[in-house]
Amino acid sequence: MHKTVPVIAVDGPSGVGKGTLCQALANHFNWHLLDSGAIYRVLALSALQNNIALDNEEQLARLALNLPLMFDSTTAEVKVLLNGIDVSKDIRTEETGGAASKVASLTQVRTALLQRQRDFRQAPGLVADGRDMGTVVFTDAPVKIFLDASAESRAERRMKQLQLKQNRAKFAEILQDITARDERDRNRPVAPLKPAIDALVIDTTSLSIQDVFNQAIMYTTEKLAK
Ligand code: DC
Repeated sequence: MHKTVPVIAVDGPSGVGKGTLCQALANHFNWHLLDSGAIYRVLALSALQNNIALDNEEQLARLALNLPLMFDSTTAEVKVLLNGIDVSKDIRTEETGGAASKVASLTQVRTALLQRQRDFRQAPGLVADGRDMGTVVFTDAPVKIFLDASAESRAERRMKQLQLKQNRAKFAEILQDITARDERDRNRPVAPLKPAIDALVIDTTSLSIQDVFNQAIMYTTEKLAK
């Protein structure tokens, strides 16, 4: 049995279904949930609001250290608050996602956000969703899962989500956006997106949400019993 608070680290590219899986795992075990992407998104939104250039590493790192961010989980859907204002919707736009990927490529920014992420590790356990949960933030996590899927299938899923919201975004644009973001996340020198050597890699391209959940639960249960 583990002496420290257990963590399930779930990493993978955008649109691969990490959010859905992590929420389901957190509900199943009744553990805390860290949506680390939301932190980078709030930082990017705050930078845009304050006219801070997305490559101004020092200023962004300072902003990251003092970011007045809070997650309100008293409601069914977790609310993300910046300066006490609900920005849950604003951080989900494509513009903020792209900006988040840019600020996330800066070393000082990532260092400034490390402790804030580690503070989420609280009993009885944590499900951590991101790009470097298993490789940098929670290297000692007993369970590491890396979800992957083709860029096309991720773009298709994203299209469906947007269409549900009556947005007429075009497939080619979404695919281009996803590919550009992947490229930046996978090739950055600091904490690049890649599976930890001890991660279970699941290719979700042709799997249902239920299939992915079943595999993850089986693997987690086995790992935690060790
Ligand atoms: O998971 P997401 O789409 O909400 O993340 C937004 C951006 O933040 C993504 O392009 C990469 C970055 N990110 C990161 O670099 N490290 C993390 N742990 C989480 C997100």
